[in-house]
Amino acid sequence: MNELYNNKIIFDDVTFKKIRDLINKSSGINFTEINRPILESRLKERLKEIKYTSIKDYYNFLIKEEGELKTLLDLVTTNLTRFFRNQEHFNALEKTVLIDLKGKKENKILRIWSAGCSTGEEPYSIAMVTREFFDPTWKIQILASDISINSLLKAKEGFYTQDRIVGIPDNYLKKYMVSIGNDFYIKDDIKKLIQFDYHNLNNPTAFSNFDIVFCRNVIIYFDKEMQEKTIKQFYNTMADYSYLFIGHSESLFGMNTKFIFIKSNNTCYYQKKEGKFLGK
Ligand SMILES: C[S@@+](CC[C@H](N)C(=O)[O-])C[C@H]1O[C@@H](n2cnc3c(N)ncnc32)[C@H](O)[C@@H]1O
Repeated sequence: MNELYNNKIIFDDVTFKKIRDLINKSSGINFTEINRPILESRLKERLKEIKYTSIKDYYNFLIKEEGELKTLLDLVTTNLTRFFRNQEHFNALEKTVLIDLKGKKENKILRIWSAGCSTGEEPYSIAMVTREFFDPTWKIQILASDISINSLLKAKEGFYTQDRIVGIPDNYLKKYMVSIGNDFYIKDDIKKLIQFDYHNLNNPTAFSNFDIVFCRNVIIYFDKEMQEKTIKQFYNTMADYSYLFIGHSESLFGMNTKFIFIKSNNTCYYQKKEGKFLGK
């Protein structure tokens, strides 16, 4: 059935490239020739869903119809994630970063941004570690944002099937999740620490003063220019003394940035030091 429909679609190269450029211009997501088949198959999926058989007609619809670009962007994102992904980052968070910030933050407010949070496993993992680490006199504010509306809806729900809770330490599972049958819900104590928001990293932001930013396995999908723009934006939204975590396969190497590279706890991350913290 799928095959039959796909064969009916009139797919010309010029329009395909126009759509690819539009995706890139609006989100920074870069489909190279190597991953062209992924974009082609997701586009065909969308065409089938709305019963179009010509990519040209779809392009005209895309540039006219408000909201279609958001739907398309949602469809072309890769939302793969899991709880406590790259465990070393969480070890560094607990054993170094939080200890350091605890000693420095006199206002006892900790602001964290999980940018590209997908279905919520990353911000919930961060919330569990920070809640466990700080006494209740500390205020923890986590912003979790993504360009995928469907992922954000799942994240907000905080519902996970048994196969998806792999990686959560047993004590956290017992303390911060409720099991109903074979499924699990995030408890309100953790949920209330997080604000989920739609945000395209290609757009300017009014967010500010983050002590920690997690943006892992997101910039890998961007072209070089968008990677630099995103990292610069993080720098500007972060507090004078703060930390940045990016994915294991991502790097700031070769970028014009003031972030300081840190290697500890068997992993790598970055630090911003400005103002009175410079030189310390
Ligand atoms: C592979 S997931 C990574 C999830 C999580 N950070 C992790 O490491 O497990 C990448 C996420 O980045 C989001 N994303 C891609 N481009 C984006 C953009 N321009 N603005 C905001 N989010 C974006 C995708 O929707 C997706 O949910």
